[in-house]
Amino acid sequence: MYRLARNLLFTLPPETAHETVVTALRAAQHGPILDALGSHLIVEDPRLETTAFGLDFPNPVGVAAGFDKNARIPETLGALGFGHIEIGAVTPEGQAGNPQPRLFRLPADKAIINRMGFNNAGADAIAARLAGQHPAVPIGANLGKNKETPLESAAEDYLTVYEKLGPHADFFVVNVSSPNTPGLRDLQDREPLEHILSTLVDAGAHPLLVKLSPDLHEEAIAEVIDLAESVGLDGIVATNTTIKRPDSLTSPNAAEEGGLSGAPIRDRATATIRFVAERTNLPVVGVGGIFDAEDAYEKIRAGADLVQLYTGFIYQGPTVARDINRGLLDRLEADGFDSIQDAVGADLD
Ligand SMILES: Cc1cc2nc3c(=O)[nH]c(=O)nc-3n(C[C@H](O)[C@H](O)[C@H](O)COP(=O)(O)O)c2cc1C
Repeated sequence: MYRLARNLLFTLPPETAHETVVTALRAAQHGPILDALGSHLIVEDPRLETTAFGLDFPNPVGVAAGFDKNARIPETLGALGFGHIEIGAVTPEGQAGNPQPRLFRLPADKAIINRMGFNNAGADAIAARLAGQHPAVPIGANLGKNKETPLESAAEDYLTVYEKLGPHADFFVVNVSSPNTPGLRDLQDREPLEHILSTLVDAGAHPLLVKLSPDLHEEAIAEVIDLAESVGLDGIVATNTTIKRPDSLTSPNAAEEGGLSGAPIRDRATATIRFVAERTNLPVVGVGGIFDAEDAYEKIRAGADLVQLYTGFIYQGPTVARDINRGLLDRLEADGFDSIQDAVGADLD
């Protein structure tokens, strides 16, 4: 069924297709359609329930940042069976992002390249939108900075967004790893990152996580982990998109500039999760190249307490959370685990 819809959607420019889907899902945001969706797609099972950074999640499978940037459909995404939604990135002021086209499909590679550049409605508008919603699952807010804000003042942007969204979101993710805002990834260096994270911690931002680029080398990741522990962070999200282009890519769009996501980053993201989980007890949110239960389970066994997906959602369609959650239950049973929490880190030494 989705294969047919997807074939149609894939004839549209990617951003138009995305808008079409979000508008359609928005129509379901309230009322009986939502209940009908939920009864088909939410997999309720105590073995999938999990706790991370003090929050309860009905299942470990969430929507990654960037899909619902403006918090238009968190309730509907919950009804599709996702266990949490990360909205954003949100910047203090609304901004248009980069010129279009800026979103590209690479179907032969099961991948996407994007250079959206934090297009979003801004913290006030998004806070107002969240205030009117009652999603049944935890909501994370991906915090960004405006393009025009100098890097030296970045901490103020993150703080402003946090202060505006604070009352309306359940957890907060510092995004210093998007490749599409000039200089942003330099904020992963120790000094600027320490300033941003401690500013937020001092302001009471909690639970607070930081999202890593898959392009960081191990020393830099180890440094971020050290910092996360010393500042008192609550978790790590691994990973964002890559600016690298693996030789395996065959799609004509592979040469487009931006961040690559989907199947080609799966192994790199999993290796990063494992590296992080081996070095810290902080909870890890695993993201990058998840399409099915096998991919999700691999990340959980590598140390992810929760997982998220974006590209896999585009390619697999609206039943993906249900399919992954069902598949996870099969795998728990096959491996003799009583709950998803018992499988977290099972592959670590
Ligand atoms: C179109 C698009 C927009 C994105 N926007 C954001 C964003 O605003 N903030 C962020 O932290 N990550 C963003 N991401 C990255 C995803 O959250 C995720 O980390 C990445 O795509 C890897 O997961 P995937 O392989 O399941 O897509 C975006 C990804 C895509 C494809």
